[in-house]
Amino acid sequence: MRVSVVVTSLVIILSSHAFDNVSAGSTGWFHFGDWGLSHWTKEICHWIGWCSEVCYDELGCFENTLECHQAFFPPMQPEEIMTTFYVTSRYHPGSIIIQRNETDKLSPIGINETDGIVIIIHGWGESCQKQWIQELSKAILTNVNKTMVLVDWYEGADELNYMKAVQNIRVVGREVALLINSLTEENGFNLSDVHIIGHSLGAHVAGYAGEFLQGIGRITALDAAGPAFEGTEPKCRLDESDALFVDAIHTDSSTAESNGIGIAQRIGDCDFYPNGGHDQPGCRFWQIGCNHARSYTYFIESLMNPSCHFDSVICSNETSYRHGDCTPCEEGACPSMGYYLHNTSYAGSFFLSTHRKSPFCVRRY
Ligand SMILES: *[C@@H]1O[C@H](CO)[C@@H](O)[C@H](O)[C@H]1NC(C)=O
Ligand SMILES: *[C@@H]1O[C@H](CO)[C@@H](O)[C@H](O)[C@H]1NC(C)=O
Ligand SMILES: *[C@@H]1O[C@H](CO)[C@@H](O)[C@H](O)[C@H]1NC(C)=O
Ligand SMILES: *[C@@H]1O[C@H](CO)[C@@H](O)[C@H](O)[C@H]1NC(C)=O
Ligand SMILES: *[C@@H]1O[C@H](CO)[C@@H](O)[C@H](O)[C@H]1NC(C)=O
Ligand SMILES: *[C@@H]1O[C@H](CO)[C@@H](O)[C@H](O)[C@H]1NC(C)=O
Ligand SMILES: *[C@@H]1O[C@H](CO)[C@@H](O)[C@H](O)[C@H]1NC(C)=O
Repeated sequence: MRVSVVVTSLVIILSSHAFDNVSAGSTGWFHFGDWGLSHWTKEICHWIGWCSEVCYDELGCFENTLECHQAFFPPMQPEEIMTTFYVTSRYHPGSIIIQRNETDKLSPIGINETDGIVIIIHGWGESCQKQWIQELSKAILTNVNKTMVLVDWYEGADELNYMKAVQNIRVVGREVALLINSLTEENGFNLSDVHIIGHSLGAHVAGYAGEFLQGIGRITALDAAGPAFEGTEPKCRLDESDALFVDAIHTDSSTAESNGIGIAQRIGDCDFYPNGGHDQPGCRFWQIGCNHARSYTYFIESLMNPSCHFDSVICSNETSYRHGDCTPCEEGACPSMGYYLHNTSYAGSFFLSTHRKSPFCVRRY
């Protein structure tokens, strides 16, 4: 069952690449087992059962004791994933490029003239060249006063074997945590002013970062990946303990009728299920990846068109929502999905409807 879901998702995501020429990074297509000798040594050591952990210098060790960490253990080496951070703000419009092993370079840059940090993390098979990342980053820089960090882990994300990319996010999560640590300690940022936004696998990268470095202000999951995460324990995925406030937007979850690649279960304090969390209006069945992509489309719209509120209602499930059995909200008592939601007093599953195209927001239930 689980294998079939993974395989189906593989096919869905792979075919979505055929329609999308912005997704490919520098080399243009997925890799498979394209590793150096030192990584193959680790692979073989694990296969023959001699090794159950790998240690990567400042990142510490990774074990395979949890069941969710066993498939295709170990993660690739940091120097193979080659995570790169692109740092921008209004005051530094050209990106400052920081390699994973030079986070201490940040101190003399003086990027602390903004009121917080927003970090964006892409998913499987993607890179920072993706159009949605450029759009979201632009939407934030033009609307709010933040330092932006784009996390590019392309070499770890373009593994054809999805499960290897799932291993790699453990490494990327700790690298993001170390970057945040150096930003806060050496550049005067407050950890509670750090906001990580992750899409698909990138949402779980944020989860691993927040688990390694407790106290991050906010994590937003834009349709967090479902395959290999649905139904697992909190240590295996993003959960509400990974930041002071975790909000999740579910747009492509699997149901009895439809196969999606987003996670369906609650993973945050505030979980939003636009249109029930699956089958978004305006997405035709042949538009592969459309439902998954709506998560960031709605989020970008919340920044670009803030008067268009994605008002939601708290509800136990989709059936109750469709039947109109949810508790209606007093003005301000129910959250609006999107960037400007940051209110730690909200918790629960929230449902809303959207239009088929922009502007997507729909008047209150
Ligand atoms: C697709 O690739 C072609 C050729 O490289 C380029 O001209 C075009 O702008 C790309 N399309 C998008 C949507 O980026
Ligand atoms: C960072 O890693 C690269 C190889 O991945 C290496 O060439 C470089 O010397 C390292 N830089 C530092 C400051 O350790
Ligand atoms: C950005 O935020 C910083 C720190 O709060 C503040 O000093 C600065 O004036 C702000 N800049 C703009 C353009 O709002
Ligand atoms: C910004 O960073 C500089 C250099 O690290 C530090 O001296 C200064 O106090 C910081 N400013 C704030 C507002 O934290
Ligand atoms: C960081 O922010 C929190 C919450 O806004 C505040 O309580 C705390 O005092 C701040 N810490 C520093 C060092 O400014
Ligand atoms: C949905 O929630 C309602 C009210 O809590 C409950 O009665 C119903 O059994 C739930 N339906 C499903 C399919 O879980
Ligand atoms: C946060 O939510 C609570 C209740 O859900 C509401 O009473 C309060 O006004 C909200 N705070 C802000 C700043 O919107």
